[in-house]
Formats: sequence, C-alpha cells, structure tokens
Amino acid sequence: MTRIYLHPLPIRIWHWVNALGFVILIITGAQIRYPNYFQLMSFEWAVKIHSWLGFILLANYCIWLFYYLLTLKIKIYIPPLHHPIAFAKKALLQAKFYGFGIMIGDENPHHPMPDDKFNPMQQVSYLMIMAALIPVQIITGLFLWDPNLFGPAVNLIGGIQVADMIHVFLWIFFSAFMIVHFYLATLGHTPMAHIIAMFKGYEELHEEHSNGHDEGHGHGGGHGEEHGHSA
Ligand code: HEM
Repeated sequence: MTRIYLHPLPIRIWHWVNALGFVILIITGAQIRYPNYFQLMSFEWAVKIHSWLGFILLANYCIWLFYYLLTLKIKIYIPPLHHPIAFAKKALLQAKFYGFGIMIGDENPHHPMPDDKFNPMQQVSYLMIMAALIPVQIITGLFLWDPNLFGPAVNLIGGIQVADMIHVFLWIFFSAFMIVHFYLATLGHTPMAHIIAMFKGYEELHEEHSNGHDEGHGHGGGHGEEHGHSA
C-alpha cells in the first residue's frame, strides 16, 4: 500500500481549528441573528464567544496564508486557466463522477498528489473560499464588532446594514458549504479515509489506484520525502 504525504502539519492545524471554530461560529451566529429561535446560551455569551472566536480564526487564517505564500505552494489553489478547455473537461469529468460514476463504482478521475492536490471542483471552490469569502467574512465581522472604529470603511460599502447583510449571507453559505464539504470528505475508499488523512497527513492509496499512479500519471518521482510506503 502506497501512502502520500498530502497535508503538512501547519495546514492540518489550520484546518481543524478552523473547522471547530466554524461550527461554533455558525451556532453562536444563529443565536445572535435569531435570538427568539435559538436559546442555547445567553445573547451576551453568544456575542462574546462569537467575537473571540472571530479573532482566533483571523489569526488561524494567517497560518494558512503565510504557509501557502512562503512555501509558494499556493499554486495548488490556482486553476490552470491557460488551459481552459482541458480544465473544463476535467471539471465535467469530476462532476460526472460525483453525480453518477461514484454510484456504479467508477474510479475517482483525480488522484491527489502534493503538488496537484485538488480536483478542478475543489480547486475553484477552495480558492473562492480562501481568497475571497473568508476574508470578506472576517472584514464584515470586524465592521460589526466595532462600527465606529471602522466608520469610514463601513460608510464606503453603504453602511452597517450592508455589512450585516453580507455577513449573514455568508453565514448561510458557510452552513451549506459545511454539509456538502463533509459529504464529499466521506467519499474516499472508506468513509473516514480522507478525514483520517487530514489528521495524520498521509493519504493511503488504493491498490489499483496506487499502481496507476506509479506507472504513469506523470507525478511518480520528485516528491522525495513526501512519499512513504507503509509496512
Ligand atoms: C466538520 C467539518 C469539516 C470536515 C470533516 C472537513 C474535512 C476535510 C477533509 C477530509 C479535507 C481533505 C480532503 C479534501 O480536500 O477534500 C479537507 C480539506 C479542506 N477543507 Fe475541510 N472539513 C471541515 C470543515 C471545513 C471548513 C469549515 C472549511 C472552510 C470554511 C474547510 C475548508 C477546507 C479547505 C480549504 C481544504 C483544503 C485544505 C488544503 O489542503 O489546503 N473545511 N477538509
């Protein structure tokens, strides 16, 4: 069995702190936005926890950002737009696999490698989330946290109601994203395979898949210590 070192430690720490933080932010956000329907804790505690966690996840986001920028590995998030047709074909193939192929036992068309980790659908959605939606959520969160401190910027986007609307829309988006993301995370060769890999760092390759990978996906060599073979 071949195993590939896919998730470096800083990314694993970022990911799980972020995931836990998001769950709590979504719950406390629901309580703040709809205090009449959600009463898990007092409104004051919901605001306190939500604000503190917002700052923790802001610091955590910097781990992700600095890691990917300083190692130049951010490339794995950038779709190859200089080959738009090939990229669109790969994306369609991936969508066909998720929508149909997976039900009849087809092999996943994408074989993750450290320098080609994401399939086209992951690449586009993760790039959008990490480069745009999380920063916008952080910025609008800061505006809501202290509208006076950020007064000029709040006015620039049309007032605090606009900041609030964007923040709530993204809260809905992230709640839906987590459900879809969780479902997709269970589609490895066992339901827990990808999730365990996100804890351990190593993804185990399926037999026929690892043979295919070794024989000619063009990624065989060159990853040095990032490759490992379990006993
Ligand atoms: C219970 C919650 C979560 C679970 C079980 C989970 C699971 C996973 C797994 C298994 C992977 C690696 C395989 C893959 O790329 O699909 C992954 C990667 C990723 N997840 Fe999550 N996730 C959760 C929450 C989140 C949240 C809340 C976000 C962001 C809002 C997020 C963003 C990402 C990103 C950007 C990656 C790629 C990381 C990288 O390799 O650079 N995840 N997740």
